[in-house]
Amino acid sequence: RGPDTYSPTGQATGVDQAEVAQGGSRLTNAQGTRLPDSDHSLKAGPRGPVLLQDHHLREKVMHFDHERIPERVVHARGAAAHGVFQGYGTATEVSKAAFLAKDVETPVFVRFSTVLGSRGSSDTVRDTRGFATKFYTSEGVFDLVGNNMPVFFIQDAIKFPDVIHAGKPHPDREIPQAQSAHDTFWDFVTLHQEATHHTLWNMSDRGIPRSYRMMEGFGVHTFRLVNAEGTTTLVKFHWKPRLGTHSLVWEEAQLINGVDPDFHRRDLADAIEAGAFPQWELGIQVFPDTPEQTFEGIDLLDPTNLVPEELAPVRPIGLLTLNANPSNFFAETEQVAFHVGHLVPGIDITDDPLLAGRLFSYLDTQISRLGGPNFGQLPINRTHAPVNDMLRDGMHQTAVHRGVAPYRPNSLDGGCPFQTGAADGGYVETPVQLPAARKVREAPESFADHFSQPRRFWLSMSPVEREHIIGAYTFELGKCYEQSVKERALRVLATIDGELCAGVAAGLGLPAPEPIEEVPPVAPSPALSQLGSTWPVD
Ligand code: HEM
Repeated sequence: RGPDTYSPTGQATGVDQAEVAQGGSRLTNAQGTRLPDSDHSLKAGPRGPVLLQDHHLREKVMHFDHERIPERVVHARGAAAHGVFQGYGTATEVSKAAFLAKDVETPVFVRFSTVLGSRGSSDTVRDTRGFATKFYTSEGVFDLVGNNMPVFFIQDAIKFPDVIHAGKPHPDREIPQAQSAHDTFWDFVTLHQEATHHTLWNMSDRGIPRSYRMMEGFGVHTFRLVNAEGTTTLVKFHWKPRLGTHSLVWEEAQLINGVDPDFHRRDLADAIEAGAFPQWELGIQVFPDTPEQTFEGIDLLDPTNLVPEELAPVRPIGLLTLNANPSNFFAETEQVAFHVGHLVPGIDITDDPLLAGRLFSYLDTQISRLGGPNFGQLPINRTHAPVNDMLRDGMHQTAVHRGVAPYRPNSLDGGCPFQTGAADGGYVETPVQLPAARKVREAPESFADHFSQPRRFWLSMSPVEREHIIGAYTFELGKCYEQSVKERALRVLATIDGELCAGVAAGLGLPAPEPIEEVPPVAPSPALSQLGSTWPVD
């Protein structure tokens, strides 16, 4: 995995030190000096005081003291596996990415996660699931950092701290650990109308998957693909599990939480160990890259809306097979660092404002989570493509760089590395025409419809699925202490559908508001006072 590590002389050793560490029959200290005894502190006599000069005690306990690193600020609990991605070649028409070409095999590492719970929380809680894939392609790393739901709570990354502060445990009681049954979450998602669609997906059976092996995955944002001729196409990425999409029912999820909080990570590891390798097809929905960036009236830059598959079928472009468990959870599952900015030629971003914020956030958080800027050198994060980046030094630098001229242009070190254009495999940003614009803090009008798609989602549900959704809202809202939050939630539900609202109101023992036919118009960035009579702030 990854290029060779370096010896202190700067020569590639051909041996990955991380792989051989802690092998052999003799116990040593961290410097490789053999130890006669690591079970007793150095003392002045068997019953005497421990001596300050015990440098072995100091090293052993110091290292232990620093074993824990900060957990991810979101998606802290996860499980992962290695595998391979095989391109079908069906995407070459729209993308020149080498790993999508026919029969090209690319090693991958996939991490599944819950979003809100801490590292030690349970697997089968009601939550969104992360589905993050690192492709170690011949042209560099491509990360597809998606979820098991096709839409998101917010349209603009500047709201991410708000939605996460609202969803994480209450600051005073640290309740709940890992589910959405509390006042702050419901307060936020009922005041913030654009969260309605994602919340409905959470309350559906998609919120409690049966297994990581049986989840769909979505890139959520619209991406821009570029082919060899430079023609661009807009796409949304989908993962389709070969085993089908399955969920638990709520009672099962709760029982399993008690009996086996590691249910999903055990299921994934056991299946892989038994040779039942889970598989997903990667697919794309394809849209013409028009200046409007809309499709059938849907704004493709709005991550709270999806494009129904009836309007744009998912075209399969490759197969993912997970075939090996990590050998060390910390080194691989915990230290892996995904980033939406890890792109390869043929895959570019769009102006989705949520994606723009993510491009900053991931690197930023990983500097503190993984202790400095060199986490790309950790074995699990190392690219499989040659690196010549001129980056130097920094906390936890493990490479011994050679040469004296880490700058451009230079005339030393035997010549300056040359820069490569698109024709020679360079990553060239698509020269997208930008509209003449003035600086604003506003959302576009086309981001204002927060209810048509939740309504369609509800109407597409079978009777038993509707029953589950009503049960989920009733249970979760039933855990709120604030009556005003429950009442406001009912008004949101009345705007989605009268039957849904009536069912939840009956479950909560509260009167159901009249169905609200008209979706209240939303001004861009509405002040709370503007939310009007149907959205009073209590
Ligand atoms: C982590 C997905 C939006 C910030 C993650 C992970 C996934 C994910 C799957 C876990 C990665 C892993 O397993 O290591 C998504 C999706 C989003 C979204 C699908 C919307 C479409 C955002 C936004 C922000 C953000 C808007 C911030 C502005 C973070 C941070 C982490 C994270 C800070 C922790 C990363 C780490 O510690 O390595 N996200 N996310 N995410 N996400 Fe997002």
